[in-house]
Amino acid sequence: MDVSVDISNSGIKREEIERILEQAEIRTPSPEEMPFLRLTEEKKISRLREIAGSLKEKSENLIVVGMGGSSLGIKALREALGKGNGELIILDNVDPTFLSRTLEKIDLKRCSFAFISKSGKTLETVTIMNLLISILKKAGTELKGRTVFIGNRGNAFEEIAKKESCPFITVPEEVGGRFSIFTAVGVFPSLFAGYDVDSLFKGARKAVEEWRLAGKLAAVKFIHYLRGRNISVMMPYSSLLREFTEWYAQLWGESLGKERKGQTPMKAIGTSSQHSVLQLFLDGPDDKIYQLFKIKNYRNDVNLPAKSVILPFLSEKKLSEVIHAEFEGTVAALKERKRPLITFELEEISEETLGYLFMLYMIATVITGKLMKVNPYGQPAVELGKRVATAILEGQRT
Ligand code: PA5
Repeated sequence: MDVSVDISNSGIKREEIERILEQAEIRTPSPEEMPFLRLTEEKKISRLREIAGSLKEKSENLIVVGMGGSSLGIKALREALGKGNGELIILDNVDPTFLSRTLEKIDLKRCSFAFISKSGKTLETVTIMNLLISILKKAGTELKGRTVFIGNRGNAFEEIAKKESCPFITVPEEVGGRFSIFTAVGVFPSLFAGYDVDSLFKGARKAVEEWRLAGKLAAVKFIHYLRGRNISVMMPYSSLLREFTEWYAQLWGESLGKERKGQTPMKAIGTSSQHSVLQLFLDGPDDKIYQLFKIKNYRNDVNLPAKSVILPFLSEKKLSEVIHAEFEGTVAALKERKRPLITFELEEISEETLGYLFMLYMIATVITGKLMKVNPYGQPAVELGKRVATAILEGQRT
């Protein structure tokens, strides 16, 4: 595995980065400050592996129900790594049409279930869980042997798990939702899908070793934020990383968008977005910092025909040559327009590179919180909306 990061086109000098980090007294990350640095222990992983194995004996699919930090990480992994040897179906919206369409296509009797909520009281998670449990019960299907509940010790899920004789898997209280990919939240579904959790953790450990790079990333983005660049674009050159950009958007947006501070995450995909927002990037307001990801080796590269019908230069090329050329084109154009740019080169898309990126960005987010002087944990502002929705559903508000 190899991920290299180039900040030489970010427009910020090394001395300035170092000065900012020094002034804010950014030191080696500690688990006290960043509880997500404590990766799930081997003993617990073995237990999770056993449970996942026993569920797989009965089912082909795992239906994962969870919101925000309880699903975005595993969605990113699923999209990047594919089906594995067990399929994940992730339900994270109470849109009636989406839910009924998805459920129509599934034989619930052939599924296992992971209900994931740290708090055990998230409206959408509980709604979907109620629905699924009632469908199963009507069909006379027991939850036992096909269901796990995942959350903080003592939450309401633990009680249900006990009642239904299902495993309750704990998530450390101190690890926040959007920082929980390396807890059971991400690990259990990964094991069911057959992803290589050891490699995921290997990548994460490497990012911890290279925490200074996360510091630089944080400092560059913070300096641009101070200069009015309050939009942070992430644009991987792979459709397989679209959900990773969603995970990043939550991490960056929910952690830093506080007290009128924050940098709006914007998601784009190479090459698709070249035909939608690239014009804006190049010729619109200079209010963005760009993070572009190049994938060096695409799995299943494709040889194009020996003779191209139109555009003769395409003859005998590989698909990867086309996407690489377009990546270089965008980099050159952004540079020419003097737009601040950070480029990542990923050897490939794998568990290890993803583990690295998840950890690198989580560390960078906490460091940026320190630079911006905001608490990266919690999301106090979203509570009001939740209270209103609850009051409406309780009939106390119309
Ligand atoms: O990052 C967070 O803490 C949130 O996005 C949560 O993950 C999300 O609200 C779901 O919470 P819970 O896991 O308690 O259901």
